[in-house]
Amino acid sequence: MFTIATPKTEQELTDYFEFRWQWLREPWGFPIGSEKDEYETVSEHRTVLNTSGKIVACGRVHLNTSEEAQIRHIAVDKNYRRKGIGEIILGALEQVARDLGANTAVTNSREASTDFFAACGFEVEKEAPNELGKLKRKQMHKRLIDHSALVLHPKWCAELQKTWHEKIPISEHMGITLYQYTEKTIETRASLNKNVNLHGTMFAGSIFSQATLTGWGMIYLQLKQKGLSGEIVLGDGNIHYHKPVTMTPRARCNIESVNAKFEWLEKGKKCPISLSVDIIDGDNAVASFEGKFWVLPVRP
Ligand SMILES: CC(C)(COP(=O)(O)OP(=O)(O)OC[C@H]1O[C@@H](n2cnc3c(N)ncnc32)[C@H](O)[C@@H]1OP(=O)(O)O)[C@@H](O)C(=O)NCCC(=O)NCCS
Repeated sequence: MFTIATPKTEQELTDYFEFRWQWLREPWGFPIGSEKDEYETVSEHRTVLNTSGKIVACGRVHLNTSEEAQIRHIAVDKNYRRKGIGEIILGALEQVARDLGANTAVTNSREASTDFFAACGFEVEKEAPNELGKLKRKQMHKRLIDHSALVLHPKWCAELQKTWHEKIPISEHMGITLYQYTEKTIETRASLNKNVNLHGTMFAGSIFSQATLTGWGMIYLQLKQKGLSGEIVLGDGNIHYHKPVTMTPRARCNIESVNAKFEWLEKGKKCPISLSVDIIDGDNAVASFEGKFWVLPVRP
C-alpha cells in the first residue's frame, strides 16, 4: 500500500531533498546542494510513501506558462522500481498540473528514463541541454487529458468547449474546461491560479463568469439534445458568495434546476430559461448562482 504525500514540515522537506539527492545526484558524483534549483519555492512537490511512511519516490512540477507544466526530479528508490510507482508519482504530478490549469506537460528526460516517459504517454520533441553539463537529455511532452470524467455526447461537448474558447475568449484565459456532462448534470472546472485574488482564493468576478458559462453550457447541450438552435443570452444573474474558493474551482448545474419553455422556441418565439449553478470547493457548495437566460430564435 502506497500513499501520495506533499512534504510540508521542515523534516519532511529535508527527507524529500535527501531522497532526491540520493537517487538523482549521488550516483553521478554531484555534490550535496546540486539537487535543488531556483524553482523550488514556486513548485509543487510530491512523494510516494510506503506503509512505514518511508519515501519510495519523489517528483516536482511547476508552471512554465499558464498552459505548460514542467515535470522534474522524478525518482523511485531502486528497490521499488518496475512496480508502477514511477507511474503513480508521475500521475500525481500530472493531476497537479491540470489543477493549475496546464494542458501540456513537458520534461527533460535523461536517456535512461525516456522509455519510462514514453510508456506514460510522453513523446520526444527535441534534444534538451545536458543535465548539469553531463547527462544527455531529450525534451518530451504530453497533452493532459482528464480521463476520470464522464462525458456523454463528446462531439457536442468538444464543440461547446471550442465555441467558448473561440467566441468567449475570457473562458480560455480563465482555464475553463468542460469536465463532465451526463445529460442531467454539467460540471466545469477552472484554474485557481489564473483567477486568483489578493487573498489567494478565487476572484469573485471569475466565480460569476464561471457560473454564467456553466449555465450557458447546460442550455447549449440541452438545445443540441432537443435538435433546437438559437442564440443564448443572459438576461439576469444573481450570485451569493457564502465562502471563498480555495481549491480547483468547480461549477455544477443540475437539470432539476432548469426551467425552460423550449416549446416556444419551436414556435419561433424567444424561450425563457431559469437555472441555478453551484460553485463547489472540495465537497462544499460555496456560492450559488441564479440565472435567467433567453434563447433567441435564429432568423433564417
Ligand atoms: C525512471 C523511473 C522513475 C521509473 O520508475 P519505475 O517505478 O520503475 O517505473 P514504473 O514501474 O512505473 O514503469 C512504468 C513503465 O515504464 C516503462 N519503464 C520503466 N522503467 C523502464 C526502464 N528502465 N526501461 C524500459 N522501460 C521502462 C515500462 O514500460 C514500465 O511498465 P512495465 O514495468 O509494466 O513494463 C526510475 O527508473 C528511476 O527512478 N530512475 C532513476 C532516476 C531517473 O532517471 N529519473 C528520471 C529523471 S529525468
